[in-house]
Amino acid sequence: MSEQKLRVLRTVGAYRRWLDSRSDLEGPVVLVPTMGALHAGHAALIRRARRLAGKSGTVVVSVFVNPTQFGPKEDLSRYPRPFAADKRLCEACGADAIFHPSAEEMYGEGNTVWVDESVLSLGLCGAARPGHFRGVCTVVLKLFMICAPDEAVFGRKDYQQCAVIARMVRDLNLPVRLRFEDTVREVDGLAMSSRNTYLDGAARERALSISRGLFSALADWRGGENRASVLKGRVRRGLERAGAERIDYVELVDGESLAARKVVGRGCVLLVAAVFGGTRLIDNVLFE
Ligand code: PAJ
Repeated sequence: MSEQKLRVLRTVGAYRRWLDSRSDLEGPVVLVPTMGALHAGHAALIRRARRLAGKSGTVVVSVFVNPTQFGPKEDLSRYPRPFAADKRLCEACGADAIFHPSAEEMYGEGNTVWVDESVLSLGLCGAARPGHFRGVCTVVLKLFMICAPDEAVFGRKDYQQCAVIARMVRDLNLPVRLRFEDTVREVDGLAMSSRNTYLDGAARERALSISRGLFSALADWRGGENRASVLKGRVRRGLERAGAERIDYVELVDGESLAARKVVGRGCVLLVAAVFGGTRLIDNVLFE
């Protein structure tokens, strides 16, 4: 691991000069893209990156609240930005640098080129958040071009995002090896999320119906129930009983193609997006 202090680099030029200054290091550059407000889920990704990079490699965490992946009525302006705490977490997890650009640095005037994935990003969150994955693909490709990683680590908590980015890497021949980490949860099962800070005690309690529903569906499947309609119905009723203000989807899909499945088998994923206390939360479980 580098003996030097964690560096914070705010421009593409500063990042490039810093990376060039490390060109004698033999290990890989491993990137962890984030929007900040870091929690134990992000920490698991950064620690994994440190293990992948080894002592002679480089771990870069990008912290950038990407405006192009937020819809006009979404939470871009109130998205938490606790940068001092993020810096401490990155340091504790062994990162070498944070790439922390401004929106102006990332999107100059009159951006007219976008990356669109045209199949995997249509359903699920893509249907509920039009333009979201176009923003995600575009910023992730830009971060790959700027940070020049050999490997990049993403969390399965955003399962569809992993699938869409894997497709982008495959279809555009990007020279980046992707690594996926399992979802980190609170002790009671709630998936960690930067947006959990929006929840008050009561909404948080009701939101537990998401992970509870997913895990009991997994147990039902292990107990022999393989009809998607039955499993999805149970999850949906649990969310309704808990007073979800909106259910964007409860879907059972093939883990690779993201195509809906009627009969559930190994490699399927059950995914939920629902609103509790005004906050849209997502979660999923893999059937394995
Ligand atoms: P963000 O929501 O900050 O998440 C950054 C990374 O952390 C993603 O790969 C996400 O899947 C992972 N992550 C979030 N919660 C997790 C949890 N509980 N357990 C494990 N991993 C978790 O995802 C984004 O930012 C953005 O879309 C980004 C890829 C940075 C592009 O702007």
